[in-house]
Amino acid sequence: MCGIVGYIGEQNATPIILNGLKRLEYRGYDSAGLAVLENGHIEVRRDAGKLEKLSALVQANPVSGKLGIGHTRWATHGEPSARNAHPHMGQTGEVVVVHNGIVENYLELREELTAEGVPFTSDTDTECIVHLIEGFLSVEGGLVEAVRRSLQRLQGAHGVVVFSSREPDKIVAARIGNAGGVVVGLGQGENYVASDIPAILEHTRQMVFLESQQMAVVTRADVQVMTLDGQPVEVKVNTINWDPISAEKGEYRHFMQKEIHEQVRSLTDTLAGRVDFDNGRITLAQLNVDAENARRIKKIFITACGTAAYAGQVGKVLIEDIARIPVEVDIASEFRYRDPIVDEDTVVLAISQSGETADTLAAMEEGRRKGATLWSIVNAIGSQAMRLADGYISMQTGPEIGVASTKAFTAPLVDLYMLAVYLADLRGVIDENRRYELVQDLRLVPALVGKALEKEPEVLQVAREMKYIRNALYLGRGINMPIAYEGALKLKEISYIHAEAYPAGEMKHGPIALVDRDMPVIALALKDPWYEKMISQIEQAKARGGAVVAVATEGDERVAGLADEVFWVPETPWRLSPVVSVIPLQLFAYHIASLKGLDVDQPRNLAKSVTVE
Ligand code: M6R
Repeated sequence: MCGIVGYIGEQNATPIILNGLKRLEYRGYDSAGLAVLENGHIEVRRDAGKLEKLSALVQANPVSGKLGIGHTRWATHGEPSARNAHPHMGQTGEVVVVHNGIVENYLELREELTAEGVPFTSDTDTECIVHLIEGFLSVEGGLVEAVRRSLQRLQGAHGVVVFSSREPDKIVAARIGNAGGVVVGLGQGENYVASDIPAILEHTRQMVFLESQQMAVVTRADVQVMTLDGQPVEVKVNTINWDPISAEKGEYRHFMQKEIHEQVRSLTDTLAGRVDFDNGRITLAQLNVDAENARRIKKIFITACGTAAYAGQVGKVLIEDIARIPVEVDIASEFRYRDPIVDEDTVVLAISQSGETADTLAAMEEGRRKGATLWSIVNAIGSQAMRLADGYISMQTGPEIGVASTKAFTAPLVDLYMLAVYLADLRGVIDENRRYELVQDLRLVPALVGKALEKEPEVLQVAREMKYIRNALYLGRGINMPIAYEGALKLKEISYIHAEAYPAGEMKHGPIALVDRDMPVIALALKDPWYEKMISQIEQAKARGGAVVAVATEGDERVAGLADEVFWVPETPWRLSPVVSVIPLQLFAYHIASLKGLDVDQPRNLAKSVTVE
């Protein structure tokens, strides 16, 4: 989705903006642009395509100044083209805007402005905003008041950043709803604005997050925050500890491969400070739950999208098994519209890497409206899903750049396991011995994931043999059933190979008709309570001529004798086995896409942070 960077200070804004936009490439985009105040007038450079094109434009026609804003656009209204790329300038050339989100009433506004004689030069909804601001520019209060009044005319959710050559001492930024974040970075005699932390992290770690319905007036020396009603808001500065180097590729070809390998560390960090191995106890302090609250819970709705929702399905098995609380997993885009039966004894638990996924945030709001307790498991610190929640678990994975989520999938699996044990403990449904045993199993996780990663050469070999497949069927049962879905999603989103997943028991109800030599079956056949069922499924696929690739527990002779290829993983306590069984499937998808020479980190049509509905 769209990314924003802005700068005001004593340096040349152009390279700062280009560099910041580069750091946001992972969000996905199809055009890019920047606007800089040069000698008192606004200069815009923008084009469809990748940032290299924008850099070339700037090189051919340089622009420099001490104030500027930039944008990477993911098209919603109007094709990716130079005229639709942001920034958008008004007709007087005195105001320029970049915008994330969708102006839901843009047709109405466009008609109104056109009737007033305003000429439109793009197909975007965003252009309405700049014309509105320009129309109000002469009112008392100048740019700030003009932005405030304009934003009040917009329906929908927005992140907006604006500057004007009439008031060259400031950038005005605003956030309405959940169309991605707006963060202000604090420097010395200079300040930054961005949609996401990584864009400006190399310059500052001191950041202010705007809440919905807030505006920031950012000058070189100062940042003032106020509500859209003009009420001043106390500026709360957050220190971000992320290491900017960890956002680089290092020795790996792609961020995705790097992030797959980072899982040993991210899972070690996931446990740190939360697990007391000596006493066999879990503490999740930021969840803000005590024994009384925990005992009141009648039901948990896990709501999320994509990969995060598959993590939630594993969480359902764990929470129901360990804490004995009924759990329903709901795709956020469905939950938000289906009037779910939720009350104050319900917890709505959102899972989100970005913490800015529009559907997930809307599902949280639906939960809030109905009086539920809101929890979230989130990676992006300070994101909306973290701030909306009554309590949260922070994923501890660091920034995830590859669009295909990997380390931000395994971390919540462990978070959900810890949550299940923690709730069971608070509710008094497990005794000390069982709790102690469950906690000790966590100790094994990082090393087991490391062992699974050591098998990368074998997975690569199978990927080489299978890179021309056109379809694949992923099967799993029980706690590894969601891993079949996750494996299929990984393959399809980065290699563009059609992949379907099924609970293996459903095969006989239809999908088995698809099985032949051209439909490889990827079967999760771990030594878990569903093992025997999976073996019989593999036998049925083989009987129909299917080529079977199994994910199996090291040393399993039965699977070795049945399957055509095996991805071996180390023996793991079954409740934690998804953390390990997903590793070869991540590697398999990665290597197929990489062997095909595809854009692994930024697959077509996808964005890292899906901030529109
Ligand atoms: O940021 P979120 O975790 O809320 O994102 C949810 C999905 O958009 C995301 O998991 C998506 O499915 C990924 N492309 C999966 O790799």
